[in-house]
Formats: sequence, structure tokens, C-alpha cells
Amino acid sequence: MKKLAVIGAGLLGHGIAQVFAMQGYEVNLLDLNDDLLKKAFQGIEWSLNKFVEKRRIRKEDAEAALSRITITTSYEEAAKDIDLAIEVVSEKINIKKMVFAKLDAIAPPHAIIATNTSTLSITEMGRATKRPDKVVGMHWFNPPQLMQLIEVINGDDTSDETVQTILELSKQIGKTPILCKKDVRGFIVNRILGMVFNEAFWTYHRGETSKEGIDASAKYFGGFPMGWFELCDFVGLDIAYEVGKILYEAYGARFKPCQEVIEPLVKEKRFGQKVKHGFYDWSKGRPRIPFNLADEYDIERIWVVAINEAAWLIHDNVAEPNSIDMGMKLGTGWPSGPCEYADKKGLDWILNKLDELYKKYNMEMYKPCPLLKTYVDKGWNGKKTGRGFYKY
Ligand SMILES: NC(=O)c1ccc[n+]([C@@H]2O[C@H](COP(=O)([O-])OP(=O)(O)OC[C@H]3O[C@@H](n4cnc5c(N)ncnc54)[C@H](O)[C@@H]3O)[C@@H](O)[C@H]2O)c1
Repeated sequence: MKKLAVIGAGLLGHGIAQVFAMQGYEVNLLDLNDDLLKKAFQGIEWSLNKFVEKRRIRKEDAEAALSRITITTSYEEAAKDIDLAIEVVSEKINIKKMVFAKLDAIAPPHAIIATNTSTLSITEMGRATKRPDKVVGMHWFNPPQLMQLIEVINGDDTSDETVQTILELSKQIGKTPILCKKDVRGFIVNRILGMVFNEAFWTYHRGETSKEGIDASAKYFGGFPMGWFELCDFVGLDIAYEVGKILYEAYGARFKPCQEVIEPLVKEKRFGQKVKHGFYDWSKGRPRIPFNLADEYDIERIWVVAINEAAWLIHDNVAEPNSIDMGMKLGTGWPSGPCEYADKKGLDWILNKLDELYKKYNMEMYKPCPLLKTYVDKGWNGKKTGRGFYKY
């Protein structure tokens, strides 16, 4: 691999182009018009300068990286002679399918076409081309220049060779890839996050805890980088709302979203940090989460629903425990992966806690995954028994 095209120069696209250029790859960066491309190029220049200021790279390296990026609005120019294209356009299936068909018509037959989609079907995009075996998911995290994680997603028609090539390439550019073995909605990280958001929203909706209480417990007791309401403001309530609906459609009752909490805010366009209002007021900067509310909420509830979803990922043969743990630590800054946390705490304890919550609320989200029951029945209770999600 020497040369690639990045299609879409927005928030994620410009960062992805920069990462490859910094690693010595020739990058053609395409967007709809020159103004968008100019803005993207300036963004890359700004970010490279930050790396120079922080002495992470030399000025000459920054200049060389910049010289490897060619901006263009022409697909013919962007996709000619490339080994890889990464599609990073807006999250709309019809636009993505059109981009895939165009790339397929122009790119050399050996070229792989990857998508950075967060929620859409890789298989469907692949079928808009004559090379579905060379279509794969390559899901980056924001900002790509700094985030270590890449989820590599195997579409229904993706060949093993394509998956291996993208896993290797991700390592070569200094990232840590995790493999999502099936083209399922939410992949690994967003699926577990979606579940955790639901637990926080439902608990708040029932009036059991304030949102500040849940966030304080997550930050100060749980060791998470921020609380769930704060994180949702950060991600964007509009995005969290859409992802919530997609997960519900894909997995049914287990992912029943708490529309009562999020929908009114979305209707009022209180999308979170980007518009300065969401669950919190961001007009004076990051919200202050009071420490003294931290015991309002039992943070173990977050862990048990996350662990239950991790168990479903393993049960459905979507991911291995180490991919899940790595994903949550690198993609969202969790202090521990759910599988390693479960093994430390004891799978029998986790199962009991889920059973209690299921009895109390009668909601599918708390119903233990059969895999957990099987493990506990076999005596695989975690570290203390030498076997849980991992072998010790
Ligand atoms: N924002 C995130 O945190 C994040 C994280 C991971 C993945 N993603 C995914 O990355 C993709 C892009 O998201 P973003 O946040 O960078 O969006 P964005 O709106 O910042 O950028 C999208 C870019 O695509 C361009 N575009 C639209 N149609 C095009 C076309 N037909 N041809 C060429 N360019 C076109 C737009 O002009 C825009 O510059 C989405 O699929 C999104 O789900 C986003």
C-alpha cells in the first residue's frame, strides 16, 4: 500500500488523511467543493503545527506530510492508481452507496474500499460495487490524529485477505485495531456504550437519581473519564438519539431506548456541547459535577449492563473478550474492559446482580445473557476460579 484516497474531508476525513500522510502515504483528499477542501487543509496544517509545538514531530516532517496530500473534487483524479479508498462522507446510506459505485468504477481492481461508517451496513455498501470481497469497515474514533483505536469490520462478503490487510495496515500506521467479526449494528464499542446510556437514562427517568448523581458516581467512583449525560452532550444528543433507534431496531426489547428523556431535548435542538446546551448548560464551559452526589447511584449497575452486552457480543460470535476490553479502554477511556472487570469481580456476582435488577424492573436489558449462565454453571466464575471470560 502506497497511495490512498480519502473521500469526505469533514471532521473525521481530514484527520484520517493526516494520519496516513504523517506515516508516508500519498493521500488524495476529496470533497464536494474547494471551500470545504481548503478548510480541511487548514485543519490539517493547524493540527500538524500542534504536533510540532509539542515536539512530537519536526517541522520538516510536518511539511513533508502536508506535501503528500493532494486535494481534489474529481473522483477520476482521486481514485486513479490507488491501493485503498476510505469513504468518510455523511452518514447516509444512499450517498455512501453512490460513492462506493463511483469508486468501484474508477479505482484499480486490486484496490480495497473501506468505510468509516458508525452505524450503517458494510455489506450493503459492498453490494453497490463489483468487488464486495474488497469492501470492509474501518471505524475510526474522533479525533483520528490522537485516538489509538480502529474497529475493523468484516462485512458478509468481505474476504479474510481484505480484513487481514486492513488489520495490518492499522498497526503499521501506529494504531490498535480490534476485529468486529460480523457486520452488526453498533459494532463493538457503540453497542456497549448504547446499553450504558440506556441504563443511565432509564434510571434518571424513573426518578431514582439525578443526572448529576449518575455522572458524579461514574466519574468519582467508577473512574470513567466523564459521566453518561456529560458524554452524551459531548457526542451530540441528535447522534445518540439516532444510534439509540438503530440499536433498538437491530436488537429489539433489550435496547428499548428511553425516548422520554432524550426526545424532548432533541426536538428543542438542545444537541449538547456543540450548541452549548444539552442535558447541561455548556455556555460557561464544561459542566461542574458535584462530588457530594456520587453516592446517589450504584456504579456497579453500569458495569453489569456493559458486561451483559459484552457477553452477548461473545455469544453471537461478534468479538473476542480482548477486543471488547481493548475497544472500551482505547475508544472511550474506560478504566477497565468489561470482561476483565467481570473476571475480577466474579461472574457469579455479576449474574446475581443482573437477576436482581431483572426481577426489580422486569426489563429485557437486565435479563442475563445465556453465556453468563453457562459460564457460571461450569464454575467459570472469573479470576478466583482460574477461568471466566479469560483463562488464568
Ligand atoms: N464524528 C464522529 O465522531 C465520527 C466518529 C466515527 C465515525 N464517524 C463517521 O464518519 C463519517 C463522516 O462523519 P464526520 O463527522 O466526519 O462528518 P462531516 O459532516 O464532518 O463530514 C462529511 C464530509 O463528507 C462530505 N460529503 C458529503 N457527500 C459527499 C460526496 N458525495 N462526495 C464527497 N464528499 C461528500 C461533506 O461535504 C463533508 O465534508 C460518517 O459516516 C460518520 O458516521 C464519525
